[in-house]
Amino acid sequence: MIVRVPATSANLGPGYDCMGIALNLYNDFHFILSDKTDSETEKSLMYQSVDFFYKKNNLKTPDLQIKVTGDIPMSRGLGSSAACIVSSLVFANENSGLHLDEDTLLKYATEIEGHPDNVAPALMGGHVCSFVEGDEIYYYKTDVSERFAIYLLIPDFELKTKTAREVVPKETTLANAVFNISRANLVTQALRVGDFNLLRGAAKDVLHEPYRKKLIRDYEVFKERANSEGAVLFISGAGPSLIVISDGENAQLLEKLKNAQTLDNWRIEELKVIDEGVKII
Ligand code: HSE
Repeated sequence: MIVRVPATSANLGPGYDCMGIALNLYNDFHFILSDKTDSETEKSLMYQSVDFFYKKNNLKTPDLQIKVTGDIPMSRGLGSSAACIVSSLVFANENSGLHLDEDTLLKYATEIEGHPDNVAPALMGGHVCSFVEGDEIYYYKTDVSERFAIYLLIPDFELKTKTAREVVPKETTLANAVFNISRANLVTQALRVGDFNLLRGAAKDVLHEPYRKKLIRDYEVFKERANSEGAVLFISGAGPSLIVISDGENAQLLEKLKNAQTLDNWRIEELKVIDEGVKII
C-alpha cells in the first residue's frame, strides 16, 4: 500500500503550537507486508506508529518493509515526522480493516507526536487550528484563499525540533500573550478571506521567532528582502525553513530571494496550500 502525505508548516508566526497548513510537497510511504520486520524498520517512527495503532486495538502488528520516497526534507520544519506518523496510522487503519474515523486517527497521531499542529493538516489538509485538553482535541479546519503566493525557503542544514524548542522561554509576559493571541486569530481570518493587509499586520510573533531566528544565520537577509517587497516572512514550524507570503505572485520578490547573498545554501519553491490531506494512492 502506498500512502501519500503532504508537508505541513506549523505556527504561521503567532500561532505557536496551535495552527498549521498543508502544502503541495509530498512523501510517499510504501508499506509492504513481509515475513519479518528488520531491526532498522522496527526502530522507525513509521513502524512504531503502526505498532501503536495495532496495540491500541489489541491486534497483532504485522511484519513490514517500509520505504519512503518524496520531497519532504527531514528536520527542516516541514512536518516530516508528522508525515511518518499519519501515513503509518492510515496504513494500519486500512490494513487492519478497522476503518476508525478521522478524529480517532488525529487522537492517535497527537499522542505520538505530542501536539496536533502538524498532524492535523497532514490528515485533513487546509489550514487547521487546534488545541488539546485532557483527552479531547479541539480543532477547526478552514480554507485558504488562493490569492496569496507562498514561497518556501529550505536550507541545506537540519535543525532538531528539540533544539529549537529549548531556546524558547518557558514563561512570558501578559503583554506578549495578548500580542500573539490577537494576531494568531487574525492570521487565520486573513488567510481565509484573502486579506493581505490584515495578514501583513498579524503575521508577527514575540513568543518563539525572536529566539529561533538566531539559529538561522540567513534569517535577517531574507526578512529584509521579503519586507522590501511588502511580503511577510515567518519561520516554518520549528525551523529552519522559512515561509514568505506575498499578495499574489511577485517575480521580483522571487528573484530577490533567489539572489540573496546567504551563508548557507537555500532551495526556494513556490507552493500552494492544499485542501486535501493524506491519501492512499
Ligand atoms: N509547533 C511546533 C514548534 C512545531 O514550533 O516547535 C514543530 O513540531
